[in-house]
Amino acid sequence: MGGGPGNRSSGLRSGATVRRYFDVFLYLHVLAAIVGLGPTFAFGWIGRMGAEHPGQGLFAARIVHTLTRKMALPLATVILVTGVAMIWAAEIDFFEHGWLVLSTVLFVMSYGYSALVQSRHVGRLVEISSGGGAQPSELPTLRRKIGWGGRYLRLSAAVILYLMIFKPF
Ligand code: HEM
Repeated sequence: MGGGPGNRSSGLRSGATVRRYFDVFLYLHVLAAIVGLGPTFAFGWIGRMGAEHPGQGLFAARIVHTLTRKMALPLATVILVTGVAMIWAAEIDFFEHGWLVLSTVLFVMSYGYSALVQSRHVGRLVEISSGGGAQPSELPTLRRKIGWGGRYLRLSAAVILYLMIFKPF
């Protein structure tokens, strides 16, 4: 597990207990990342298919909206909580590990963006696709914003994953 706090051998809570707690939290952390964030990597495709086939636009928007609110955001909370739990269990000195500080900052930024901005845009897309009145220019603008927002969120998740695994600094 690299040279970061993964090598938690001495100066910590009693070895075997730490190991057991840490491993449980790590398991839940990675599971939440796979299940919660994995599907978001398909959102670009789903969005494009919805835009290309007008009859499927509403369904595409609803899938993205529902998966974001019911899976990605709740499981992102689990990622954060289990991350903090690992820091607690292994008594990791947070500010000693640049990769951990940077990934937490990136994570909080993307969580905020997803919860406050992207979700609202996709919610509006659901409304418009359900027949809610829209100005002619609103739909393409909204799709463009959602497309760039999605790229940012996926890139951010990929960078965080890199930092978690390679712990470069
Ligand atoms: C997109 C979000 C995240 C993803 C995909 C992710 C993924 C991972 C993965 C795959 C590991 C296993 C690395 C290894 O065993 O070498 C890991 C470990 C870890 N993560 Fe995260 N993580 C995320 C966010 C966070 C956040 C926000 C925190 C801090 C609050 C955090 C704290 C930790 C800690 C402390 C470890 C244990 C590192 C070690 O000592 O080996 N993670 N993460």
